Amino acid sequence: MMKSVTETRPILITPHGVLYNSDCLDVMRSLPAETIDCIFADPPFNLGKQYNNGKSDLLAEDHYLDWCRLWITESIRLLKPGGAIFIYNLPRWAYQMAAYLEEQEMEFRHWIAISMKGTFPRGNKLYPAHYALLYFTKGIPKTFNRVRLPIPTCRHCGKDIKDYGGHRKYLNPAGLNLTDFWDDTSPARHQKNKSRWHVNELKPIIPERCIQISTNAGEVVLDPFGGGGSTYVTAECLHRFWIGTEIGPCEPIRERFAREFPILENPRSIPEKLRPLLNESVGLAR
Ligand SMILES: C[S@@+](CC[C@H](N)C(=O)[O-])C[C@H]1O[C@@H](n2cnc3c(N)ncnc32)[C@H](O)[C@@H]1O
Repeated sequence: MMKSVTETRPILITPHGVLYNSDCLDVMRSLPAETIDCIFADPPFNLGKQYNNGKSDLLAEDHYLDWCRLWITESIRLLKPGGAIFIYNLPRWAYQMAAYLEEQEMEFRHWIAISMKGTFPRGNKLYPAHYALLYFTKGIPKTFNRVRLPIPTCRHCGKDIKDYGGHRKYLNPAGLNLTDFWDDTSPARHQKNKSRWHVNELKPIIPERCIQISTNAGEVVLDPFGGGGSTYVTAECLHRFWIGTEIGPCEPIRERFAREFPILENPRSIPEKLRPLLNESVGLAR
């Protein structure tokens, strides 16, 4: 039997976050409007994966997109004006989600191409080599922090790889501006690096960049699809508050926190910053 929201208690509380073992829609619908600074969503891709969560990951196309529209609609309601949403998905679904976001008057910022290695073509198709990371804001972005990457150098001789057409001296010493093509983010595929082998756990650098770009320390991030908890761990490290939901087993996330933050005592009370949001929602702050 599904748990009602009034029965929902956090399954993990950290100094910056709360995780609910729930359907994301139940929790999202209980939260007050315009309270979240950034949403990062990496939903199931409807490829028939086994997430061990009692839900089918192979829905009819319309059914899958209808479901996506439900959590996207809630996301838009929850974002503060100028807040940001990032959605990671196959281009096949992402272009339809982008169209829906646009229809809802969200502001298009970027289609970030995330290089994907180890895929294979199906049927008469091109070789798929990227996933999409949509970046939209609710109106004009309230925060845009530049993320800079180290100037690339040769592994062997340590010299710059490019000559920058004689303009090397004008480059910002803090590094190069992040582009909309990320090829240093392939997934953690080895079991030893993963907290749950069957989940497409993202390299933390993906949510990390999104959080850095669109929020400042002390702000609130929501990720409806917990998986192995990459967004939550990153938010905790970056001193952002976070709210998470995962409908499947949450033990891998709890174990990951215990492993990555061994000195964290599991506090018993919800972080002060999140209290007003969760108190207003029936039952979420108990
Ligand atoms: C692709 S994984 C997310 C991986 C995560 N970004 C990470 O890096 O670890 C998608 C997750 O969403 C969860 N999920 C699916 N439907 C859900 C729902 N309605 N509410 C909450 N979680 C859901 C699945 O169980 C799965 O763990």
